[in-house]
Amino acid sequence: MLKLLNLLKDGRFHSGEALGAALGVSRSAVWKQLQHLESELNLTIHKVRGRGYQLAVPLNLLESHAIAAFSQGAQWPVFIHEEIDSTNAEGLRLAGKGQAAPFLVLAERQSAGRGRRGREWVSPFAENLYYSLVLRIDGGMRQLEGLSLVVGLAVMRTLQAFGLADVGLKWPNDVLAGGRKITGILLELVGDPADVCHVVLGIGINVNMQSSDQIDQQWTSMRSETGRVVDRNQLVALLSQQLQHELARHRRYGFAAFQEEWEQAHLWQGRKVSLVAGTTRIDGVALGVDGQGGLRLEVDGVEKSFSGGELSLRLRNDS
Ligand code: BTN
Repeated sequence: MLKLLNLLKDGRFHSGEALGAALGVSRSAVWKQLQHLESELNLTIHKVRGRGYQLAVPLNLLESHAIAAFSQGAQWPVFIHEEIDSTNAEGLRLAGKGQAAPFLVLAERQSAGRGRRGREWVSPFAENLYYSLVLRIDGGMRQLEGLSLVVGLAVMRTLQAFGLADVGLKWPNDVLAGGRKITGILLELVGDPADVCHVVLGIGINVNMQSSDQIDQQWTSMRSETGRVVDRNQLVALLSQQLQHELARHRRYGFAAFQEEWEQAHLWQGRKVSLVAGTTRIDGVALGVDGQGGLRLEVDGVEKSFSGGELSLRLRNDS
C-alpha cells in the first residue's frame, strides 16, 4: 500500500494503467488497493474517467532522506513504520532485542497509541507526529529526574521555531497552544533504573490534523494555530536537534539547571489548582517545580512537593 501511496502522494492524476505498470499488478488490483486506502486510511481519492486517480490532498509522508536533508549534524538511526501499534511499544521491543540506543521510532499511524493514565492517543494516518526516542541510561537515577519536563521544554521551543506564539507548559508534561493541548508526552522505562535501563521518550504532536470526533478534551494542532501545513520531516529534524541540545544539558547539569526556565514557561504558575490522582484531590496554589521536576504546591499555607505518573493537574473554577 505504501508503494501506491508514494505514487499518488504528489496530488496529481495517475492513470490506472500507469499505476498498475509501476506496481506490477492489474488495473483491477489497483482499484482494490485504492478502495482499501480510502477505507483503511480515511483518505479521499478522486476518480475521473479518462484522467485516472488523484488524492484529494497531497500527502507529506515521513522519509529518512527528507529528514536527513533538513538535519544539521549527527542524526539518530530512525525506523519508520506505515502502521504500528505504538511507537513507544516498538521502541521498547527493539531495545529488548538489543538494538543499540539512541534510536528513533516513527509511524504514519498508531493502532494502539498510548496516552498517560491508560488513555488512548488518537493517531490518524499521516496527519500528526508519533515520535519515540529510545535512550540508554547507565546507572544514574539523576539522569531520569525531570526528564519528561525537559522533553516538554524541547517540544515547546520547537513549536516556537515553527511560528507558534502562544505556547506553554502544564505540569508535568503537556504542551498547550492557545490554552489547548497540542502535544502529549509519555515516558516509559524498561530495565533497572539503578543499573542499566532504557527509557522511551514518546511524543505525540498534533501537526496537520484539523478535525477529530475521537478526542475528548480541548485540543489544537500546529496547522490550526498557524494556518499553514507543516512539513513533518522538517519537524522531526528540528525536534531531534532541539532534543539533542536539551538532553546533553540535562545529562551534564541535571534538572536543577532547567527549573527556572520551566517555571517561566508554566502556564498555571501562581494559579489555584487541583491535583488529582484517581478519586483523591488536593487543592492548592501552583508554586513551581522542585529540583527533581516534582510539582511544588502551597497547600493550606504549607509548601509540599508531588510527583508521579498518575497525577494530573486541573485549574480550579475560582482561579
Ligand atoms: C498523553 O496522554 O498526554 C501522552 C500521549 C503520548 C503519545 C505519544 S505518540 C508517540 C508515542 N507512542 C505512544 O504510544 N504514545 C506516545
